[in-house]
Amino acid sequence: MCGIIGYIGPNDATPYLIEGLKRMEYRGYDSAGVAVFDGEAIETRRAAGKIAKLEAALAIDPADGFVGIGHTRWATHGPPTERNAHPHLSADGTIAVVHNGIIENSGTLKAALQELGYEFRSDTDTEVLAHLIQELFEGSLEEAVINALRKVEGTYGMAVVSSRDPGKIVAARKGSPLLIGIGEGENFLASDPSAILAHTRQVVYLNDGDVAVIERDRYKVLDVDAMPQPRDVDRISWDLAAIERGGFAHFMLKEIFEQPTTVENAMRGRLILEDGTAKLGGINLSHEQLLNIDNVIITACGTSWHSALIGEMMIEELARIPVEVEYASEFRYKNPIVTERTLCIVISQSGETADTLAAMREAKRRGARTLGFVNVVGSTIAREDDGGVYLHAGPEIGVASTKAFTSQVVALALFTLKLARKRELSVTRGREIAQALHELPAKVQQVLDTAAKIEEIAEEFKRASNFLYLGRGYNFPGALEGALKLKEISYIHAEGYPAAEMKHGPIALIDEMMPVVFIAPHDAVFDKVVSNIHEVKARKGKTIVITSRDEPALKGLVDYEIRIPETVDMLMPILAAVPLQLLAYYIAVKRGSNVDQPRNLAKSVTVE
Ligand code: F6R
Repeated sequence: MCGIIGYIGPNDATPYLIEGLKRMEYRGYDSAGVAVFDGEAIETRRAAGKIAKLEAALAIDPADGFVGIGHTRWATHGPPTERNAHPHLSADGTIAVVHNGIIENSGTLKAALQELGYEFRSDTDTEVLAHLIQELFEGSLEEAVINALRKVEGTYGMAVVSSRDPGKIVAARKGSPLLIGIGEGENFLASDPSAILAHTRQVVYLNDGDVAVIERDRYKVLDVDAMPQPRDVDRISWDLAAIERGGFAHFMLKEIFEQPTTVENAMRGRLILEDGTAKLGGINLSHEQLLNIDNVIITACGTSWHSALIGEMMIEELARIPVEVEYASEFRYKNPIVTERTLCIVISQSGETADTLAAMREAKRRGARTLGFVNVVGSTIAREDDGGVYLHAGPEIGVASTKAFTSQVVALALFTLKLARKRELSVTRGREIAQALHELPAKVQQVLDTAAKIEEIAEEFKRASNFLYLGRGYNFPGALEGALKLKEISYIHAEGYPAAEMKHGPIALIDEMMPVVFIAPHDAVFDKVVSNIHEVKARKGKTIVITSRDEPALKGLVDYEIRIPETVDMLMPILAAVPLQLLAYYIAVKRGSNVDQPRNLAKSVTVE
């Protein structure tokens, strides 16, 4: 989703802006632009489409200067055209603004500005900010920005430069992440640490309500009343190499193949094999608080919502606490039953998903304790939750989530162990699950070793128009996830269902053209799934069966088999996820899709 970069220092800003924008490409965008103060005036260059087009525009008509801001836009208001691309200039051309988020009262503000004679040149809500800041400017850019923000409703991460108050970037944050990067004799602003990591690891994360003034040798953080605010300097620990492709054709493939390590990292130092439990330092829940939980709500979006469904089953089965899973976007508009004894678990790879963040805030407001299961350290959810479990999967760049999903399920399994062992779970069963977790990384590697076979299956089905994914019990959320992966990156229509639900409708779709992926390991519901495979074969459907044994019951029913190792039922979705990710990946590559940045999708969805 939209990305912001800013540079102020002794060097030409444009190369830093372009480099930062490229580092954020993975977030998804459809246009890009920069604004640079050249000592006299603000120069903007913008282009619809990829950053390469912006570079081409800059090659023809360079824009040089020591201070600048840049943006990648993911369209919300108005199509992804050059005129809607950021930065947006004020009517007199002295102020340039880039903005992530949505100005909810832009219609009212626009009408008021039009009354004053301002003419609008784009369809965006952001342009309102540029004119409003011009209207309120009396010599100090930060004062004008603060006064403008008093009139604004909505969310923003924004950066502003002005030729009338040069030598600074003014930034403001409400609901959309921003951080200052502190360099030597130069400073940076970014919405994503990866944009500045090549230049500095020292960062200040801005909080909602902060306004920052960034100059070449100093910066300050103010609140909306212009009062200075102390902010800690943090150090980013992850490596730039970790966010590069490392020899793989795509980030997604690299991230799929990282899973033996990321699964291991999610449990490193946390698993206590002899006690059959887990140690989770960040959850900030006392023994009493863990015992006093009456109910759990898990809220998330997309792939993270699928891991939530698996978490629900684990917690109910082992800890015997009622769990509800809510789409974050729905939760915030319901009247959910939340008490002080409700634990709200929020799952998010990015830690910035607007719907999930809002749901967490709503649960907090109603008195629940909140726990964030988050990958990105220092993200907004991680900073606002009451406690949490980091996934430690490392940066996930491919838009389709893979390694974060398996790490989420591992983290949920660890939390379940901890919770359940405090309640009813016996040490013997706890140890069995802990041992199975311990063995997982090697088993994930075993699945990855079958990648070539999965690629062959992908070749057979690359022209399919529809896919059905079926599983039961712990593998029903896995079926949803398999279908989501395929549709996201290959654009093939795919649906996931509980296998037995098929006969209540989707069975009508089955004919010799319909591939059906069954997740059918040898688990508690295996025999039931076999009956469902019979139903598909009887209607000439093509079956791709993910299973864990040489099962006589499957004889004659399987067109393509994918073998995965055995584990305890609750961890099977982790092993089953890997071939589903690979199948989606290979089909998408064979269809020529841009798998790392599929159309219309953004890595971090920071709008409602
Ligand atoms: C799917 C995918 C999305 C995300 C969803 C939530 O591959 O990546 O469905 O899972 O947008 O994102 P996070 O986990 O960052 O909150």
